Amino acid sequence: MKIENKNSALTEKICIITGANSGIGYETTKLMCAEGVTTILVCRSQEKAEKAIERIKQDIPDAKAEFAIADLSSQKQIGAMARDLLKRYPKIDVLINNAGSWYSDFDLTEDRFERQWAINHLSYFLFTHLMLTALQKSDDPRIINVSSDSHFQGKIHFKDVSLRKNYHGLRAYAQSKLANVLFTLEFERKKPSGFEHISINAVQPGLVKTDIGLKHSISFHGLMWKIRRWLGVSPEKGAATSVYLAISEEVKGVSGKYWDKCKPKPPSKKAEDKEDAHKLWQLSLEMCAIRSFFP
Ligand SMILES: NC(=O)c1ccc[n+]([C@@H]2O[C@H](COP(=O)([O-])OP(=O)(O)OC[C@H]3O[C@@H](n4cnc5c(N)ncnc54)[C@H](OP(=O)(O)O)[C@@H]3O)[C@@H](O)[C@H]2O)c1
Repeated sequence: MKIENKNSALTEKICIITGANSGIGYETTKLMCAEGVTTILVCRSQEKAEKAIERIKQDIPDAKAEFAIADLSSQKQIGAMARDLLKRYPKIDVLINNAGSWYSDFDLTEDRFERQWAINHLSYFLFTHLMLTALQKSDDPRIINVSSDSHFQGKIHFKDVSLRKNYHGLRAYAQSKLANVLFTLEFERKKPSGFEHISINAVQPGLVKTDIGLKHSISFHGLMWKIRRWLGVSPEKGAATSVYLAISEEVKGVSGKYWDKCKPKPPSKKAEDKEDAHKLWQLSLEMCAIRSFFP
């Protein structure tokens, strides 16, 4: 991939992408690098990050790609990474919360939350909060939360979000993806003065041929995913809407929407429930030990 005449406004931009070493996140990173954006790959190991950057540089030798390391299931690691990032980059233009996971089996993180809840929702919430002061300094800051149409099947189990009593991988996944949209829309409603210029949107990448359903699956679920993803689009296509929202001038200032194939569309009714959104916000503050989301 060789892109000539890079847009000089984009070559000044800094973008953080979580889950950047594989699947949709990797392709999103590569497309952003091709546009000349400085990208920071958030990965859970240095080895994975370096390998991903090496692959990107094979196609884009002048890619400006760096990395930051954290296991996003750990709030302690998210906090340490955020402190490090804020020192390295006082101003951030784009944050793409993309990392996601699927687990067939129930287990808890070190913070005692179910893993999909912690990685797919709480990490978006906490990391966004921690990066706000850097985003605020950009003149066109954009946050993109990678959700899924699975959220249409989701419900927030407020009394037991970790689904300790009634775990199923699909239930936990759909719940976490619904939380992504609720969080996005509630952020838009709650933005206080001084933060109005931050845009935030949720994305549905479509059914995409990645390994998400194979990494932590029992063999039956892995087989189902292999069959299902056969119908999916390439990870590059899956990355298109995130990249569009991250860099297009057409969507400058557009915020608080749910996107599919580079177009806004209505999310589920449950995602638009303002009472649930506020309840989820309060619960997430408590779970991440945040006193005030907007510093
Ligand atoms: N594929 C689809 O059809 C589809 C459809 C709708 C929405 N999505 C969403 O798209 C996003 C990307 O998924 P994908 O399909 O591209 O899957 P993927 O290839 O498995 O990518 C997920 C990324 O998240 C990272 N990640 C997972 N758990 C992590 C943790 N604890 N700490 C740090 N990083 C972690 C993974 O790192 P490792 O490589 O270390 O595991 C990987 O880089 C997810 O939010 C997913 O929910 C996917």
